[in-house]
Amino acid sequence: MRIAPFKIEEWMNKYEASAKYDLTTTCIKPLSVNELCKITDTNSNSIMDVALGYGDITGSLKLKNAIKGLYTNQKLENITITHGAIGANQLIFMSLLEKGDEVVSIVPTYQQHYSIPESLDANVKLYFLKEENNWIPDLDELAKIITPNTKLLCLNNPNNPTGAVIPDYMLKKIVKIAQDNNVWVLSDEVYRGLNLFGEPYSISVADIYQKGISVGSMSKTYSLPGLRVGWICAREDLINEINHQRQYNTISISALDDYFASIALENREKISERNFNILHNGYNILKTWAENEELVECIYPQGGTTALIRYLKDISSKELCKDLQEKTGVALLPGETLEMEGYVRVGFCADNLIKALEKFSEYLRD
Ligand SMILES: Cc1ncc(COP(=O)(O)O)c(C=O)c1O
Repeated sequence: MRIAPFKIEEWMNKYEASAKYDLTTTCIKPLSVNELCKITDTNSNSIMDVALGYGDITGSLKLKNAIKGLYTNQKLENITITHGAIGANQLIFMSLLEKGDEVVSIVPTYQQHYSIPESLDANVKLYFLKEENNWIPDLDELAKIITPNTKLLCLNNPNNPTGAVIPDYMLKKIVKIAQDNNVWVLSDEVYRGLNLFGEPYSISVADIYQKGISVGSMSKTYSLPGLRVGWICAREDLINEINHQRQYNTISISALDDYFASIALENREKISERNFNILHNGYNILKTWAENEELVECIYPQGGTTALIRYLKDISSKELCKDLQEKTGVALLPGETLEMEGYVRVGFCADNLIKALEKFSEYLRD
């Protein structure tokens, strides 16, 4: 299978490790095993008793029950566990798509959502979010792009990189458009639970639509990207189809990952409390900085961990990011890797955010 280079992953592999100030990150300070045990009141000796077998093939009952608690309308049969959200997305595309199928993908987004369908010879239509709409889809435009020929709509809510959150009432309208055209909706919800304002959890597409497929993960909301645990929540016949594909690429996830993910989700309020302090602190720093920096423009994020910033300089985003990192040690993600030239992505939960943004400002002024 031929597939396009995964631009953000390639960029981060090259530049992230050597960054002094890493604003490419999308994570909220990953937890150590010690911190996780402390926050969740878990005796760390209990880890020694975890049996390192394959375990329950599609995920332990303990883990699936904890995941079920994140939804309003799901049974255990509607859930399967995957190697991160990246494994979840891949399995969904492999299970649903065939050559010639039409896919509408809302961009900017995680590149899997258009490059995997393209690699499967699907007919992919990109719908670009606009800054003037606060990075929220325009429903009239969307209604024109989605037709009965469309098989799958892909969206990411809250959105990476813009930090936009589709309001629940609007999500229901998007689902209605999909329903009228009998279209599956893949909603990548890895930042679900990180709405900065109001209810932290948006509604999940799987809870409101028969053909809604929700993808979740331990990586962002729960600060455990090193576990490599994700999941898919969808109607039972699709989950069975996905599990059929899954047998060829997963068997099971690591027993330790399953164990840690279960205790984290069973104590998710405690992790959320820790994370919301970091999230709001980062948001306030970003907003204060952007309000005072004339050489950038920003629609402030409403959720997730990233913001997409327009810089008012005549330089390509890749050149800017490369030069900035060489001169100051600050790593940003170039918009070009997200099909958004003229912008950079800032991970606002990064360490040393104030210092890094100061350095970015100095650089822009030079
Ligand atoms: C929108 C989105 N989907 C999926 C992933 C992959 O997440 P995971 O670490 O759970 O595989 C990421 C990672 O950055 C992401 O931002």
